Amino acid sequence: MIATIIPKKQKHYSVLLDEIISIITPQYGGTFIDCTLGQGGYTKKILEFSNTKIIALDRDRDVKKIALKLEKKFKNRFIFKNKKFSEINELDLMKEKIKAVIFDLGYSYTQIKDPKKGLSFDTSGELNMKMGLNNFSAKDVINKLDKKDLEKIFKFFGEERDSKRIAYKIIKERKIKEIDTQKLVKIIESSKIKKNYKIHRATKIFQALRIFVNKEISELIYGLINATKVVDEGGIIAVVSFHSLEDKIIKYFFKSLSEMKSVSRYMPETKEKSKPFKLINKKTIVPSAKEIKENPSSRSAKLRFVIKEKNIPNFKTDILDKFNYLIKIENYSEKL
Ligand SMILES: C[S@@+](CC[C@H](N)C(=O)[O-])C[C@H]1O[C@@H](n2cnc3c(N)ncnc32)[C@H](O)[C@@H]1O
Repeated sequence: MIATIIPKKQKHYSVLLDEIISIITPQYGGTFIDCTLGQGGYTKKILEFSNTKIIALDRDRDVKKIALKLEKKFKNRFIFKNKKFSEINELDLMKEKIKAVIFDLGYSYTQIKDPKKGLSFDTSGELNMKMGLNNFSAKDVINKLDKKDLEKIFKFFGEERDSKRIAYKIIKERKIKEIDTQKLVKIIESSKIKKNYKIHRATKIFQALRIFVNKEISELIYGLINATKVVDEGGIIAVVSFHSLEDKIIKYFFKSLSEMKSVSRYMPETKEKSKPFKLINKKTIVPSAKEIKENPSSRSAKLRFVIKEKNIPNFKTDILDKFNYLIKIENYSEKL
């Protein structure tokens, strides 16, 4: 979900659920990794098919409540780990053959309406934005990083045109008083040059901060790389994303996996001619008009997937080089 304002709907929807199910085909059984359990929408649907098993992850400790219920109901068929998905290669998979690894990025309605998480610009009080298993919060970022670092975070993770002005004002204001959520919204609103916006004026800065606080770029890149290691031959990696930066990374990675380019660049000695993955849909799968009507927050969702054709143990991709400029920005957090 991309909106940083609390949506009016009163329940959680699983985005592109039917489309995910038709791609991963749980009706034929198998073991699946749900990297983003959330409210359990995908997992519950998969578990409706009796010969399936789920290994689920979520970085948010609050998701444990949902996981506990599922563990009780589906004994031996459901395992939950409060872990980040960048670490899926560290799971003890007990020789399970993984039929699909699924990611539904972003955050859930339950998280955005939780005032403690401070993901929405409607909330009052301290800046936070931690989804779970974090080392620092948005409060640290806004009140401690220098002007140049803030500018880059806003520009690259939020594609915010007025990054410079906003960073300048933040530095000025924080000398007077620590900046909280509502103060930050006011600073953004007063710094914007253009006054009429289709989206809330603070949307881009809040997106940028959330990406930075949760290291979402490295999470996604390492999550994808490690998914290629754990999925079985014939298995699928499917990702639902919500903003252009995520989609750019997924698109590049899936393309590089399904072309010879990166294999020949890094492994000329193996003379490996097969592609490790196959891309079926070059275009993204998006929600239907009916889904968007029922759940308007799904409108920015995009689904991409690849199928593993062959195990190539030392297969390497250049994804880390390609997006190193973004990882470097995330690493400003070492200064905190
Ligand atoms: C959009 S929700 C998932 C909704 C779920 N598919 C459903 O149907 O209910 C995204 C979830 O992913 C979790 N998450 C985000 N980044 C993560 C990461 N790097 N590692 C593990 N979980 C993550 C969030 O805490 C959130 O609960």
